[in-house]
Amino acid sequence: MELLANAKINLTLDILRKREDGYHDLQMVMQAVTLADALTVTPAQGAEGQASSDLHFLPTGGKNLAQMAATAFRQATGLGGEVDVSIQKRVPVCAGLAGGSADAAAVLRAMNELTGAGLSPNQLAKIGERVGSDVPFCVLGGTALAEGRGELLTPLSPLPPCHIVICKPPFSISTPQLFSRVNVRKIVRRPDTAGVMAALDAGDLAGVARRMYNVFEDVLERRRFDQIAAIKAALIDCGALGASMSGSGPSVFGLFDDLDSAQAACERLRESYRDVFLCGPAGAQ
Ligand code: C5P
Repeated sequence: MELLANAKINLTLDILRKREDGYHDLQMVMQAVTLADALTVTPAQGAEGQASSDLHFLPTGGKNLAQMAATAFRQATGLGGEVDVSIQKRVPVCAGLAGGSADAAAVLRAMNELTGAGLSPNQLAKIGERVGSDVPFCVLGGTALAEGRGELLTPLSPLPPCHIVICKPPFSISTPQLFSRVNVRKIVRRPDTAGVMAALDAGDLAGVARRMYNVFEDVLERRRFDQIAAIKAALIDCGALGASMSGSGPSVFGLFDDLDSAQAACERLRESYRDVFLCGPAGAQ
């Protein structure tokens, strides 16, 4: 079975509190995008399922999120055998775009089809919680408010049609390390989450774009902050209605209402960066 695994961006990311279990309670407006990995899921050739991809450094066995999802599905439903998952990676890894979680979510959807289990998207999302905090959103897709660890999802009005330019600078940020740098009481600037949701309801792209923010931007090391700021400035300079970092970074995206401006932004960013993508919003699964 062949399917696409859409990446996500964070229109907003706010951290509300640190929890007893080590996780943080978040409030995020998440948006699925058409930038996607292509997956092929087939019955396993050997005794144990393998994951393969065009990136040699990704784990191939049980530690691959796609295989973890297959295991979680079997444990939750008692259905399905071992599967091989072949992944054509287009979404950069460790980028704040939930590439691995998207693959896991796609495997859950594939196993649901292949076994005829007939689980609802919400039931699949529940299974995805065990695999990673972003997996439930990746199962549902579209536009949603994510709270708690990221697993409490409320569907929102869709992002109006637009062009999204994503640029990943050539460094990666450890998500746990970035969380450890956050002192919730010292967060000064926060996104206007309610304002973004109201702008989504009104179909007001510019209203969404100018209220976006990610609180992780404030705890980046100086030299990284400067690179993120430079990419945001380039996007705005080329006509983006707003720009922000996605997830725990380092990817930065800009929202455009005009295709020519989005293409010009891509050309300009490609002079300095390899990972630059032009995509659009993706609807709910
Ligand atoms: O759930 P996931 O494996 O994606 O999370 C990776 C790490 O990010 C967690 O171990 C935790 O340190 C941090 N995290 C957090 N609060 C969240 C989500 C993730 O502190 N809501």
